[in-house]
Amino acid sequence: MAELLLRMEGISKTFPGTKALDDVTLTLKAGEILALVGENGAGKSTLMNILGGTQKADGGKIIIKGREMGVYSSAGARDAGIGFVHQELFNCRHLTVAENVFMGRLDRYTTRFGFTDYPRINDETKKYLKMFASKIEPAQKIRELKIAGQQVVEIIKSISINCEILIFDEPTSSLTDTETAYLFEIIRHLKANGIGIIYISHRMEEVFALSDRIVVLRDGRLIDTLTTAESTPNTVVGKMVGRNISDFYPQKSSGIGENILEVEGLTVQGLCRDLNFTLRRGEILGLAGLVGAGRTEVICGLCGLIKSETKRVAINGQTVTIKNYSDAIKNGLVYLSEDRKLLGLFLKMMVKQNISATNLKSIRKQIFLNVGKESKIAENYVSKLNIKLHTVDQRVNALSGGNQQKIMVAKWLNTNPRVFILDEPTRGIDIGAKTEIHNMLRDLCNNDTGIIIISSELPEIIGMCDRVMVMHENKIMGEIEGGEINEEAIMKLATAV
Ligand SMILES: Nc1ncnc2c1ncn2[C@@H]1O[C@H](COP(=O)(O)OP(=O)(O)OP(=O)(O)O)[C@@H](O)[C@H]1O
Ligand SMILES: [Mg+2]
Repeated sequence: MAELLLRMEGISKTFPGTKALDDVTLTLKAGEILALVGENGAGKSTLMNILGGTQKADGGKIIIKGREMGVYSSAGARDAGIGFVHQELFNCRHLTVAENVFMGRLDRYTTRFGFTDYPRINDETKKYLKMFASKIEPAQKIRELKIAGQQVVEIIKSISINCEILIFDEPTSSLTDTETAYLFEIIRHLKANGIGIIYISHRMEEVFALSDRIVVLRDGRLIDTLTTAESTPNTVVGKMVGRNISDFYPQKSSGIGENILEVEGLTVQGLCRDLNFTLRRGEILGLAGLVGAGRTEVICGLCGLIKSETKRVAINGQTVTIKNYSDAIKNGLVYLSEDRKLLGLFLKMMVKQNISATNLKSIRKQIFLNVGKESKIAENYVSKLNIKLHTVDQRVNALSGGNQQKIMVAKWLNTNPRVFILDEPTRGIDIGAKTEIHNMLRDLCNNDTGIIIISSELPEIIGMCDRVMVMHENKIMGEIEGGEINEEAIMKLATAV
């Protein structure tokens, strides 16, 4: 029998207005991978934050290797051998990769003269980067890395403390397939070395590929603990949502109209040259390709978020000039970024302020803001998108990850976009909410609007799009339309075979 590493017993936690956890118990053995699943807002991150010492439980016990823990902080958790790869990235952007990995422990890596021993921390970091076959350099600044790279650093930071219990909160949501494969290899290696792993994911394939047991939470309560080998994805999803959900995508467009967006000769220095494409009214256009194919850059160039040149951009047949992002918004061209923190949300502000921020005009009353109207607009989106929160006066950082994503969608919808571009719109969103967002996008796409979706999930592209444009190494490889859209056709273009 493997040693019992952890027992969390009868854990409860209430936030103002929300019972986030209600009497939850789970155990973890050495060398075991425990999957923790549940819809957005089910309480997964809260439970793990309590284990990781960043939040305090209101009730219950935590027993690590037979010893009941008192109240402890995140440093206390680290000393007790608990590592945590967080859902939201915490890396310090202005520091180097190695400095981030050794953050909080740099005093143990000094030269004789008391300075940080950079050669040593760089060497150590390099060793871990090699495990991921990563091209990242230890001395690079975090801000130079894409999200996926930042996530790799976060993971390395945790495994480098030699923990016995390691928590992963949706680690793969921004990793490429190759990086994910390396991560799985590392996780299995850690397991073989007797480390106990708790793995939060919305992806059933991952849960079934990795885990030994599955803990299902719903609305803060423990619904069931299952043995993976004896269950199926369907039973797990059923327990998660407590109702039947269809995995059908909404009907595709029946009324595609004229061009709503025409892009001619888009060039982003050093990235792409002379691209041409169009979007029609009522159409959902997919932008497919492997991660790193240049999709985000093309769109950022178009929206004035990075420096670019175009021969001509027209919206509704009218030529427009887009020098920066506010020009884009003024012309009804809106981009929902894949990085919530950077371009997306003001985390410390209220939900309603976030939703109204991009369209203050709509709530202006002479020189004042009509706060009542601001709340009404926000509440409308909250109910439409089924956002789980206590009040629209709550700060965004008090919401679960998936619900933050929905706030971001609401925020951009509120600008009444003509051309709505979404970058990985359902990342981190649970299965039920994903369907809601898909339906909502289809409803939104009508006579006056067109939508572009960038997604790395092929089923989403295939299920949602009327037409798909596939990119490979910053070039448009081709287009597929209607009944021709399938996985094989997309992958052929995406991998340039
Ligand atoms: N700091 C906070 N203040 C108030 N409410 C909070 C806070 N943190 C979490 N909550 C609430 O507690 C509940 C559980 O949130 P939690 O983040 O644990 O969900 P989750 O299962 O991790 O969801 P997701 O899949 O979206 O990441 C949610 O209703 C959330 O709004
Ligand atoms: Mg979470």
